[in-house]
Amino acid sequence: MGLFDSFKRQTNRFHEEPVVEDNHASSQVETNEEPVIEGAPVEATEVPETVNMTSAESEEVVSRETSSSEEQVAKSAADMYIATPIKSYADKKPVKHVVGATKVIAILNQKGGVGKSTTAIDLGAALGELGKQVLLIDLDPQGNTSSGLGIEKNRLDQCIYDVLLGEAALTDVIIPDVCEGLDVAPATINLAGAEVELVAEMARENRLKEAVGAVRGRYDYVFIDCPPSLGLLTINALVAADKLLIPIQCEFYALEGVTKLLDSMKRVKTHLNPSLDIFGVLLTMYDGRTTLSKQVASEVRNFFAKRVFDVVIPRSVKISEAPSFGQPITQYDPSGKGAEAYRALAKEVISRG
Ligand SMILES: Nc1ncnc2c1ncn2[C@@H]1O[C@H](COP(=O)(O)OP(=O)(O)O)[C@@H](O)[C@H]1O
Ligand SMILES: [Mg+2]
Repeated sequence: MGLFDSFKRQTNRFHEEPVVEDNHASSQVETNEEPVIEGAPVEATEVPETVNMTSAESEEVVSRETSSSEEQVAKSAADMYIATPIKSYADKKPVKHVVGATKVIAILNQKGGVGKSTTAIDLGAALGELGKQVLLIDLDPQGNTSSGLGIEKNRLDQCIYDVLLGEAALTDVIIPDVCEGLDVAPATINLAGAEVELVAEMARENRLKEAVGAVRGRYDYVFIDCPPSLGLLTINALVAADKLLIPIQCEFYALEGVTKLLDSMKRVKTHLNPSLDIFGVLLTMYDGRTTLSKQVASEVRNFFAKRVFDVVIPRSVKISEAPSFGQPITQYDPSGKGAEAYRALAKEVISRG
């Protein structure tokens, strides 16, 4: 399916439900049936009554003029992208509950395209929906976590790069309340220079750990979305993190490179961060119709045993479309299989403590 088709469908959806209060309609216009997830204990979860939008965002949606379907189709991608207002940490809404011990979890797999950024966004949003305070740190110069949540990177003065270089505090770059309970420390392409620039700096592996230390106690979860490499940025994530979440795509060569990843983890554990461990391994893009997905899932479960989450993330067109609209799946398709899976994962994450 072309991206254009998704814009067309989304345009219809917006105009059928102008205030975006009832998200059930989105599944009614969805004809692209997603695969059944066999064996995935995806729990039935309630659909939230309202979409978590800032008032500025909902005004923007409401103010979109209603027009004929041809005109709707002609709307550009830019019109459909919900831009997140660039607020500062000082504007953060009061936190309603007492935050317990902060868990810092790096989402890591040096393979690209396995679902790291998607999981950062969608798991973060699902935990926020459940009332948790979550910070997403985008540590990938590609900035997919930032743009996937509607953050326009060209409007940012500072990003996580400035924090690593010691030129800004983490709270200086955090954009609060991007979704309910979800703050983001964004990345821009400037971060690409950090690997080189940090090499000459003192305590270069500890930069992120120091920055994250300053916000411990303010969040229930801090997720670090890592770049697809085992360079200095990833080492910073491994030093800053308490635990690792490893997404594995249900594809050929799923376990390729995993030994290298575990070696890096062990090295950091021995020298820099003794308590580092695996929090969980997540099977992503699972297609229950294919034998391959089933084989990969069973291979990964044999290898990692109980570390593998019971919840499996299905391959879903909706999940892949959501970032181009600047929304997590829990808002873009709140009652679909993808949102259900990430909500079930959020519950499993909470239950793992
Ligand atoms: N469950 C899924 N179903 C379908 N597409 C997915 C799913 N998870 C991720 N994708 C898509 O796969 C691509 C890679 O995912 P991404 O999260 O960016 O991976 P990574 O951060 O590991 O490079 C993206 O285009 C994303 O939209
Ligand atoms: Mg990514």
